[in-house]
Amino acid sequence: MARTVQIFDTTLRDGEQAPGCSMNLQEKVEVARQLEKLGVDVMEAGFPAASPGDLAAVKAVAAVVKNSAVAGLCRALEKDIDAGWEALSKAAHPRIHTFIATSPIHMEYKLKMTPEQVLERAVAAVKYAKKYCSDVEFSAEDASRSNPDFLCKVFAAVIDAGATVVNIPDTVGYAIPAEFGNLVAYVKAHTPNIDRARISVHCHNDLGLAVANTLSAALAGADQLECTINGLGERAGNAALEEIVMGMRTRKDFLDVECRIDTTQIYAASRLVSQVTGVRVQPNKAVVGENAFAHEAGIHQHGILANRATYEIMTPESIGIPRNRMVLGKHSGRHAFEERLKDLGFTLDAKAVDEFFAQFKVLADKKKVVSDRDIEAMIVGSAAAVPETFKLDRWVVNSGSSLSATSTVRLLHKNGTYHEEVAVGDGPIDAAFKAIDRIVGKQLDLETFELGAVTGGEDAQGEATVKISWEGRRWNGRGLSTDIIEAAIKAYVAAINAMEWELSATNGQRGPNVEEPIGV
Ligand code: KIV
Ligand code: ZN
Repeated sequence: MARTVQIFDTTLRDGEQAPGCSMNLQEKVEVARQLEKLGVDVMEAGFPAASPGDLAAVKAVAAVVKNSAVAGLCRALEKDIDAGWEALSKAAHPRIHTFIATSPIHMEYKLKMTPEQVLERAVAAVKYAKKYCSDVEFSAEDASRSNPDFLCKVFAAVIDAGATVVNIPDTVGYAIPAEFGNLVAYVKAHTPNIDRARISVHCHNDLGLAVANTLSAALAGADQLECTINGLGERAGNAALEEIVMGMRTRKDFLDVECRIDTTQIYAASRLVSQVTGVRVQPNKAVVGENAFAHEAGIHQHGILANRATYEIMTPESIGIPRNRMVLGKHSGRHAFEERLKDLGFTLDAKAVDEFFAQFKVLADKKKVVSDRDIEAMIVGSAAAVPETFKLDRWVVNSGSSLSATSTVRLLHKNGTYHEEVAVGDGPIDAAFKAIDRIVGKQLDLETFELGAVTGGEDAQGEATVKISWEGRRWNGRGLSTDIIEAAIKAYVAAINAMEWELSATNGQRGPNVEEPIGV
């Protein structure tokens, strides 16, 4: 019988830590709910000691998640573990995750500690965490470049101190699959008390081998696999959850391991994480990319028509992408719309269905056919939307090849007052953003701006994502419209609303999406 491994998702911590992937508190809670639906065994919700905002976000996730364990990352320091427990104490299944580096290079140059001091600190941290929480994970940072015997010595000591999980991170994505599998087997064979803890692995993708290393570790006996949705994470990212899970499912014949993930929730999780972080999924990304199930070549299409299995090793339905359904348009009624929402996996109350149905009707008047992607784009991420300080009321832009672009934008403030400004810019979008900056009264930096189409076709909706920054803090916004300039303006206003909400919620303190360096 296949062995069951646990899935530990760290999208909200290692994923969110990556530059440009920050999420606000509401976004983190919405992602956490989706991870719970997906059935992850553990979700790492953040690094509570990094900032008051991070602590608040872990606390908020811990309060809503019931079926998955919620972990908080803590350096091997008492103050980090105190902050970790403050954030996790109300979780249904809390886990403190503490770590210290064990490789010669990290111990000598980063920690400036001897191996004996590192061992002592690791044991002290686990003992300290154990006073709060029965479930304690210990990670030996940079394990793949550590001396295997030292690694086993540290693991044996922390297991004696009460660690329930020992994690082998390939922190810098240096390992090669066969070598990494051997390391797991070595730890299993040479850590005398390993039967009292689970072996976990955590792979980074610097050489593009994170998933391969993770599967090799699973084959060698790892019990817990750490990963992120869409492979989000520092530098080249972490091992992608969807690739590991579908790899195990598709090649169960060879790997003989399985997990408890509901794979039909994968696509929704991927879309949500992409929407809230503003990080697009590359079209040829395995499993969840736009082209992952597209068959263009004639010879492939011929094979697919004869028997799908000729070129398809997994089905779109298995990850939650429904195949060809009736199109919806302006004559579709509320009932058909509600049924489609259910098919797409959205469970909304009647009021929310009414609101989205009204938006659907407006869109259906502009577009002949409203696709599933249009509906998803409307809904995914909306639960994370913050209260609106400003709402776009109207806008006009003039631009052309022989004149400077000018814009007039009018926003409605939540106190009921209208604010209108005029600006000149380098192009229509710059002009509109400058007018909005004047209304808001802040010099905002536009860090990234992306524009795409939700579907193909001339009447496709434009989808804009922006990241803005102000005084070292960043916020994301997303806007949808059949007019691309309006989509851009809506995205900019959404990012400003996220900023205004966070500034008021944290009284100007550093918020949840501040990137802080980590390491002891
Ligand atoms: O990559 C890494 O080593 C980590 C640890 C803190 C688990 O993220
Ligand atoms: Zn990591």
